[in-house]
Amino acid sequence: MTPPGYSDADAAALYDHLNPWGPSDDFYLSYVMAAPAVLDVGCGTGMLLHRAREGGHTGRLCGVDPDGAALARARRRADIEWVQGTAAEMAWDREFDLAVMAGNVFQVFVTDEDLRASLAATRAALVDGGRLVFGTRNPGRRAWEGWNPSNPIDVVDHAGRELRISYRVESVSGEVVGFTETTATRAGAPLRVDRASLRFLDAEGVDRFLGAAGFQVEQRYGDWSRGPFTDTSDNLVTVARVA
Ligand SMILES: C[S@@+](CC[C@H](N)C(=O)[O-])C[C@H]1O[C@@H](n2cnc3c(N)ncnc32)[C@H](O)[C@@H]1O
Repeated sequence: MTPPGYSDADAAALYDHLNPWGPSDDFYLSYVMAAPAVLDVGCGTGMLLHRAREGGHTGRLCGVDPDGAALARARRRADIEWVQGTAAEMAWDREFDLAVMAGNVFQVFVTDEDLRASLAATRAALVDGGRLVFGTRNPGRRAWEGWNPSNPIDVVDHAGRELRISYRVESVSGEVVGFTETTATRAGAPLRVDRASLRFLDAEGVDRFLGAAGFQVEQRYGDWSRGPFTDTSDNLVTVARVA
C-alpha cells in the first residue's frame, strides 16, 4: 500500500507536539513581556507570541517566518501580526524594541551572506538601544552526533497516529551540518522526509557576525536559567544590544 504521506499542515502540528513549552520559552517570554514592540524572527507556529498575548502583552507583537504551514497555525490568533518571509527580506526601519530568534533559528542562516543579511535586517528593524535575544547550540557539544536513526522518537501525533521520527546526518562541512528528519509509521514506512542544514558557530564566530552587524553583546549565558557559558554548555545564549 502506498503510504498516505504527511502534509505540511500535519508537520506543523507535529512540530508543536514535539516541541512543547519549555525552559527556553520561559526565558524568551521574560524579555518579550518587558518590551513594548517585539519581532519574533523565525516565529514558526507562533507559540511564543501567542503565549505573550495570552499573558497580557498589550503592545505590538509581530512574527516572521517563510513557512506557510507554520504561519497558518500562528494565524489562529488574529491579534498578532504575521508576515511570511525570510529574515533577510525584512524591511522594517527602527520599529521594534526587541527581536528574538527562539528555537535556534540563528542556526538556519548557514551562509555568511544569509547570516549577514538576516542580522542586518534585524538590526534595522530595532530602535536605537533595542535588543536581539537568541540561542544557538554550542558546537563543542557536537549535538549532531546524536542525530541518527538508532535514536528514534516515538510519538502519537495530534490526530492519534503512532509515528516514529528519526534523524540522519548526511554531511558535516565545516560548521554546517546537513541532515534529514524522517516521519515514519511505527513499522518504519516513511511518510515524509525533510532536509535541513544548520550552522554551528562558536562564541567568537557569533560575536564577530554580531559586531559586524552593529550589535554589542550585553549578556552571554550557557543555559535558560542564566547560568554562565562554559565549554560544556549545551547552549550559547546571547543578549545583544544595538551598538
Ligand atoms: C526550529 S524552528 C523554530 C520555530 C520557533 N521560533 C520556535 O521557537 O518554535 C526554525 C524556524 O526557522 C524558520 N526559518 C527557516 N529559514 C528562515 C529564514 N531564512 N528566515 C526566518 N526564518 C526562517 C523555519 O521556517 C522554522 O519555523
